[in-house]
Amino acid sequence: MGPALEQILNLLLESERAGVAALDQLLGEVENDELRRLLATSREDEAATAFALEQLIRANGGQPSGQIGPFAAKVAAAGVLADRLKLLIRGEEWGARKVEEALAIAPQDGPIADQLRRMAKRHRFEVEWGRAELIRIMNKL
Ligand SMILES: [Fe+2]
Repeated sequence: MGPALEQILNLLLESERAGVAALDQLLGEVENDELRRLLATSREDEAATAFALEQLIRANGGQPSGQIGPFAAKVAAAGVLADRLKLLIRGEEWGARKVEEALAIAPQDGPIADQLRRMAKRHRFEVEWGRAELIRIMNKL
């Protein structure tokens, strides 16, 4: 694995960890059951992805970062719940773009591309579905 690919996979790893931390904070405050389920599912996905990326980087001769991205602090500082949730979705959009960038430099066959394609799909889904669900749930709060 080349250094550019290792770097972007580590960026994704740090971002997914930041996603877990941001979702943990939100789960500590949100009381609505539906919204909690949405956030908890997303949290599990992010945690599983972080774990998979860590394994993948190591299995391909890289050194997994131990850092957490700066995103969690940004979400915490974003103010009221609705704004923090919106920022969370924007974070997933950013993640989706970074996954595309990683895919562009990864070997097109094999476990790295497979993982990135799964992440691309999940991020696109989370952005679309998350946005729709959020509007629906926030309207009821
Ligand atoms: Fe993510």
